[in-house]
Amino acid sequence: MTDRELMDMAAEAAKRAYVPYSRFPVGAALECSDGTVFTGCNVENAALGSTICAERTAACKAVSEGHMDFARIAIWGESKDYCMPCGACRQFLSEFSRDMEVLCAKAGGRYVSYKLSELMPHMFNY
Ligand code: THU
Repeated sequence: MTDRELMDMAAEAAKRAYVPYSRFPVGAALECSDGTVFTGCNVENAALGSTICAERTAACKAVSEGHMDFARIAIWGESKDYCMPCGACRQFLSEFSRDMEVLCAKAGGRYVSYKLSELMPHMFNY
């Protein structure tokens, strides 16, 4: 699957975002090393801190289906700047695959690509 195809899946997932508070839909498409893709969207809550980001939705879907070897994630959001994963999502993804690729889009469809280890060089661990 190309980067663009994975990003298109993330954009599609964003259509299912539940965002009555921020009105900012985010979609993620997480590809595992065997090629399986799990998508996710942000799911907000009136108790704002209970909101779940699109990336963690996708990661929880993958892990709960027995997939823990993440290869690539596409993140789609119509932001002015690239839609980067928040700190909690960087930590969460790092638990499973420090070398995975992270594609981050912005309004208009352009995207940038990083290794997760660049975005989260020193994860918490014990
Ligand atoms: N959000 C994500 O889905 N992923 C991130 O990495 C950062 C933020 C969501 C959470 C909330 O629903 C909205 O974006 C605005 O913060």
